[in-house]
Amino acid sequence: MAKKITGYVGSPRKKGNTDIVVDTFLEGAAAGGAETQKFFLDDCTINQCRGCFRNCALKPGTRCAVHRDDMDMLLDELVSSDLNLFMSPLYCSVYSAIMARFFERCLPLWHMDIVGELGTMDAFKLVSNPAQGKKAVVGIVQDLKEPSIAEIAFKVFEQNVGRTYMMDIVDKIHVTDVRDVGDIKKKEKELETIFNLGKSLAEG
Ligand SMILES: Cc1cc2nc3c(=O)[nH]c(=O)nc-3n(C[C@H](O)[C@H](O)[C@H](O)COP(=O)(O)O)c2cc1C
Repeated sequence: MAKKITGYVGSPRKKGNTDIVVDTFLEGAAAGGAETQKFFLDDCTINQCRGCFRNCALKPGTRCAVHRDDMDMLLDELVSSDLNLFMSPLYCSVYSAIMARFFERCLPLWHMDIVGELGTMDAFKLVSNPAQGKKAVVGIVQDLKEPSIAEIAFKVFEQNVGRTYMMDIVDKIHVTDVRDVGDIKKKEKELETIFNLGKSLAEG
């Protein structure tokens, strides 16, 4: 059966560098036999998490306790995908607010029981998380040439995608020195590597 591979664009710029990376990766994945889809998160209705905390995580299923918006569909698509690509421009040394708002609303993935004292690490016991163990690729495009500028962003990806939502980060994409819409098109070699990564992950 064909793998289902989903890409999420965290930039507000259509046909910008992030968007092109996601398209290229998904084209590679399609060439490798995967069924692919892309979500341009800025086009989706993703209301701000209201911080009621625990209300979503204490119930099975993946529904926010407050908002009925595109996150219902996006969480269903995330858990039914074999691999998810989360790709963002570097904004003020981290991923964009569009991507952050999306991750904040992924909290309903958790289904927890309260088994201990609140405020301690023993308070919660995980009952289920349908995203646990799912393959993920995380990526950043940035203006500056210095790659270490994105260290914090990748640490936050590891913390949130890897530890909090328990996905298995199998690879990372990092493109430096791209500023204006479409700059990345000049980086033919890197785009070829991204295409081949999508293809090999679809085939593997
Ligand atoms: C609000 C804002 C903050 C940014 N912060 C950084 C930054 O901290 N470091 C960096 O290298 N580039 C930064 N950039 C540049 C973008 O990462 C870069 O232009 C990227 O190629 C944009 O990707 P896009 O075409 O997908 O939108 C920032 C751009 C914006 C608009």
